[in-house]
Amino acid sequence: MSSRLYSSADRMIINLDRAVRSLQGRGTGSGRPSPAQTETSEAMTSRDRRASAALMRVNHAGEVAAQALYHGQALTATDPELRRAMDEAAREEDDHLRWCRQRLDELGGRTSFLDPFWYAGALTFGAVAGLAGDRISLGFLAETEHQVVAHLENQLSRLPADDARSRAVLEQMREDEAAHASSAEDQGAVELPSLVKRAMRFASRVMTRSAYFF
Ligand SMILES: [Fe+2]
Ligand SMILES: [Fe+2]
Repeated sequence: MSSRLYSSADRMIINLDRAVRSLQGRGTGSGRPSPAQTETSEAMTSRDRRASAALMRVNHAGEVAAQALYHGQALTATDPELRRAMDEAAREEDDHLRWCRQRLDELGGRTSFLDPFWYAGALTFGAVAGLAGDRISLGFLAETEHQVVAHLENQLSRLPADDARSRAVLEQMREDEAAHASSAEDQGAVELPSLVKRAMRFASRVMTRSAYFF
């Protein structure tokens, strides 16, 4: 019992450390270099830079939330294998977080003031999903990733045409998120009720709209 309590306390401390790292953009991730490195976006007008920065702020906030979802699920998942898979996925999301942050800096933009709020909210959602059982948790993950892919499609269509660097980042993220969804499905994700999917879409709309401005 005490070792179980000890490991829960351990995980809480590790999670706090991760939360701070995520919010400060100091996560190590898997160390993949940003896909933006292979592109140039030198000819952008200041208006386009502002438009891109607002979109990348939204994507950065989304990645903060993605980190927190995985961290929350890893916190309450009962299957050690699943917990490891969640931790591994969080590391890949950390790459996305870092790439968005770097691109945001290049564009002279800022992160969302509400990032700590997104982190806390998503951590709670993730932990609750984890408590609901591993297959439901995987279903929640798969649905989140499907919604993120749809969101990224929309972002790519709104990105200024001359911003090849942000485009390269978003395209790689879209590919990774689709792979995360497939792997959750392969691991036995259940399909969530449509009401839950709608509620998730609503929550992410609130987040993306607020992060665009704040
Ligand atoms: Fe991501
Ligand atoms: Fe993902």
